[in-house]
Amino acid sequence: MTTYEPKLVINKTAEEVDSFAALQIISQIQKKPDSVLTLPTGSTPMGMYKKLVEAYKKREIDFSKATICNLDEYWPIDQANPSSYSAYMKKNLIDHINIEASRWNIPNGSASDADVEAKRYDGVVKALSPVDLTILGLGPGTTCHIGFNEKGSAVESRTRFVTLDEQTYKVNAHFFSDPNLIPKGAITQGVGTILESKKIILMAKGEEKAWGINQTLNGPIGTDAPSTFLRYHPDVTVVIDEAAGNNLKT
Ligand code: GLP
Repeated sequence: MTTYEPKLVINKTAEEVDSFAALQIISQIQKKPDSVLTLPTGSTPMGMYKKLVEAYKKREIDFSKATICNLDEYWPIDQANPSSYSAYMKKNLIDHINIEASRWNIPNGSASDADVEAKRYDGVVKALSPVDLTILGLGPGTTCHIGFNEKGSAVESRTRFVTLDEQTYKVNAHFFSDPNLIPKGAITQGVGTILESKKIILMAKGEEKAWGINQTLNGPIGTDAPSTFLRYHPDVTVVIDEAAGNNLKT
């Protein structure tokens, strides 16, 4: 498979990473109002969402024709659970912008059968493909996950149910009021699904992502670090702050 070198943008601060990512979304929608976006959750993109909401309030961005697909959702989880990704998206973006309910897609964490729901969601993304722009975060520690594609995820993997890696489980448990209530699994867009997007931006901030960023850009490409598969895509930008770049050779 042909490999490509992702474009690397190193910003001084985490806030500049947010601004960079928000601007990419704003210009994408200005250029093509009916763009399809795949969007992430987690702590990394929170500032980006804040900037998008500000831009919407200033009428710099209009989401009325856009479509949003989320990357992943825990399973099983009640969508009303404040720690669900559905609740996260509503709180941080959806409830503050002019996107029609029918144009926002996310796996249903309370579906009774995870495999059936994953297949349905893969069909939803496929019908909207190609996605114009995908924004990703990077998993904790040495997971190098994208979406919830943990170690072992194949390059051609599709949307499916996955069991969370132990490191992911531990780190993400802090986002739950009772850490014991984090589900053991999730439904995630596959690596193959993600790679079908026309353009991909990977965001990372802080020293704790420095190992993963170096691995993503310079490590051996393979299932041990699913984010390395991004090097098979011709249009990837990795945007980080200085701390997340600490392991990169200069
Ligand atoms: C979760 C999500 C990922 C996200 C990652 C990073 O595990 N499934 O899509 O990129 O967290 O989280 P954070 O931004 O909080 O470091």
